[in-house]
Formats: sequence, structure tokens, C-alpha cells
Amino acid sequence: MSEKMWGGRFAAGTDRLVEAFTASIQVDRRLYAEDIRGSMAHARMLGRVGVLTEAEVEAIVTGLAQVRQEIVEDRLPFVDALEDIHMHVESRLTEIIGDVGKKLHTGRSRNDQVATDLRLYTRGGLDDLVRGLQHLQNVFIDLAEREVETILPGLTHMQVAQPISFGHHCMAYVEMFHRDTQRLLDARRRVNVLPLGAAALAGTTFPIDRWDVARQLGFEAVAENSLDAVSDRDFVMEVLSDLAILAVHLSRLSEELILWMSAPFGFIDLPDGFCTGSSIMPQKKNPDVAEIIRGKSGRVIGDLVAILVLMKGQPLAYNRDNQEDKETLFDALDQMRASVEIMGRMLPGLQTRPDVMRAQAERGFATATDLADYLVRKGLPFRDAHAVVGRAVRLAQERHIGLEALPLADLQALSPLIDGEVYAVLVLEGSLAARDHLGGTAPRQVQAAIQRARERLQREAL
Ligand code: ARG
Repeated sequence: MSEKMWGGRFAAGTDRLVEAFTASIQVDRRLYAEDIRGSMAHARMLGRVGVLTEAEVEAIVTGLAQVRQEIVEDRLPFVDALEDIHMHVESRLTEIIGDVGKKLHTGRSRNDQVATDLRLYTRGGLDDLVRGLQHLQNVFIDLAEREVETILPGLTHMQVAQPISFGHHCMAYVEMFHRDTQRLLDARRRVNVLPLGAAALAGTTFPIDRWDVARQLGFEAVAENSLDAVSDRDFVMEVLSDLAILAVHLSRLSEELILWMSAPFGFIDLPDGFCTGSSIMPQKKNPDVAEIIRGKSGRVIGDLVAILVLMKGQPLAYNRDNQEDKETLFDALDQMRASVEIMGRMLPGLQTRPDVMRAQAERGFATATDLADYLVRKGLPFRDAHAVVGRAVRLAQERHIGLEALPLADLQALSPLIDGEVYAVLVLEGSLAARDHLGGTAPRQVQAAIQRARERLQREAL
């Protein structure tokens, strides 16, 4: 029965519903290690400033270690009545060590406590993800090296544009995932700020030493303003923004893998262990892993939108709304960590089909720009060269052959500037090799890019 004054009018069931509704333990239980670490640091600091005795600190720290052990071993029951992880840890601590446990919460509030826990957790999650992304970059670099000489028809508007090195295409993803790691590491500096000491919102009457706690927990800074410290979730919004961008990158990659593996393309094959079959169509080998990763982008973008909207209407300082911040963050971190890991395991088994890619590049007149550039080098203005090549393409198309198969006489009829050496620029290898500058697709440039990327990764490795 409710102890509330108006309790008689309400069924006991309402209380249980509200209890279940407001409890966050099933979500925030995963913060236990951070919560206990934060509490230990807080207790030690309280000891150093003389608020707790040495014996009290000792009892609290030892008791907290035991609570942690019980949670690790799954021996601590989580119940809605105790709301959240903070209450579970404190109440179990008090059961173990007695009344001294009740002193732990001196000079702090769950408001600065939860913000501290969440920042610690986010920091760890970022570090894991950055390591995963660095591994994924290595996987792409290895793949690029293996496929430097493999020719892929590069597309714009999904139409054959110019031939490129498959390795060059791989290295584009290295750049994308490198930016993702840089974004996350940049966000990390703003995550790594200590809110503890703000207490409920205004600070505390005890002579706390916030830098002591910051040093113990590895925070690089202490939040300047107590109101901001408890109400700020910019770090969640920021990390989720970065994760949403990462999810979009992974989705674009997945989309390419899915297209390339489809029969009409036939550019690649993905390893059996990362594909699944159809229950009705025996011939099917579906790239489900890539499809699911593409699908995760919707979810992570949703997580970002959820936190932005969650924060939008909140006045300072802490509001219970903030309890809803964790599910989105945990979900996005989980999904991206798993996606990055599985992508890194799948890609080394990717097989290319160079013959198919070559045939498509030839059918698509991928060296047309090379022919135009050739005419420009002979003195023709680019716009006129463009027109000449356009006519050459039409001719080749009518005869169902590639540009390189047009007889010299026919080419010369289109422009007298053309001579027998033209065929060197019409072959795919010549087209690649000619784009020989920083950032270009010439295999030797791709090789140099691979070298630079390897060095960069080594420099920046966590
Ligand atoms: N479970 C809460 C959360 O996640 C902890 C903070 C609760 N603070 C409070 N004043 N009720 O935000």
C-alpha cells in the first residue's frame, strides 16, 4: 500500500507500475564498474580533506570492492525498488559494512554521480571503438595493397566513369574511417571532464578537492560550473553525432559490397561465413552482414535524434529526463563496436573478380576522358576534344566494341590529330598509370598512399 497521503484513492498496483516505470537499473546496471570506481575516488578524497576518517575510507573502499565482486559474479540481485545502479551499490555497501556506508554520499548527489559515471563509461567506449576503427583501417590498407593493380570501373551517377585501382577505392574508406577516429578522439577531450563536486546543482558545503578526484579518475579537466556539470549532456550528443557519421560511412560501404556482390555486377564475392542462404531459393547467397550493418545506420541516426530532442526542452539543471540518455548512447556504442568488428573480420576474405570488372570498364568506355586528354595534349581545346570523343563513343557503341577496338582509320576520320600511339591511352592500365600525382589512382601513387596511411596509423595508434 502506498504511504502517500492520497494513497487510499490509488490501488497498490499503481505504485508498482510507477516503480517499474521510473527504475533505470536494467539500463544503468552496466555502469557498475564506473560507479564503484567513482565512489572509491570520492571516498578517498573525503578522507584526504578530513571529512571521513582513514578507517572509514578503508571500510568503504574495501566494501565497494566486495560489491563489485558480487556484481561481476552476478550475485547481486537488481530490483526496481532500488531504482538505479547508484542506489544498488550504496545499499549493498551499507549492508556489508554497516552505517559507515551511509557516509559515502556525503558531499555529492546522484546528479553529479551519474554524470561522472556516464563520462567514464563513454571514455572507455570511445577508446574501444577507436581501437576497432584503427584495426579496420589496417584491414583496408592490407586489402588495398593486395588489390593495387586490380582495375575497377569507377562510377559517378552509378554510370561507368573512369577506371580506378581497386586499392584506391579501399583507401577512400581508410580516409573516411580515419576521420571517424579523429572525430571521436576530439570528442574524447570534452568527454573527459569531471562533473563530480557539483552535487545536486549548486556545489556542496564540504571542503572537497575536485582535482584530487579528477586525477584519480584520469579526467583532464574539472567542470567549471556546477549547474552545467549536472545538466550538460553535450558529450552524449557529440559522441552520438560522431557515431551517426560513422554509421553512415559503414552503410555506404555496405551498400557497395551488396551491389558489387549482386549478379548484375559480379565484382566481388564475400566469404561464405559472412553470408546466409535463402529458405526457398537454393541458389541464393545473401550478404546479410552488410545489409544488417547498412540497417544499423537507421538505428544510430535515430539514437542521435532521440538525444537531441531529449535535451532540447530541458531547463537547467538536472531533470529526470536525463535518465533516458543512456539507452541511446549504449545502443549506438554497442552497434558501432559490433559493426566495426565484424566488418574487420569479413573484409580480409573478400575476393575480387578482376575479369568482370575489366569487362565492365571496357563496355562503359571508361577511358573516354583519357582520349580527350590525349587530344588536348595534341593541341585541341578540351571542349572540342570532348565532342570528338563523344562521336568516337557513339561509333564504338553502334559496333558493340570498346574504344580500344576502333580501327585507327576510323579514329583519324574523327580527328587527324590521332596517331597509332593513341592505343596506349585507351588501355585501362595506361589510364590508371597516367593519374600519377598525390591522391591520384596510379598504382604507384596508391602504394605511396598506403605507406603514408600505415605510418599515420602507427603514429596515432592507441
Ligand atoms: N537514474 C538517474 C539517472 O540516470 C540517476 C540520477 C537520479 N537523480 C535524481 N535526482 N533522481 O539520471
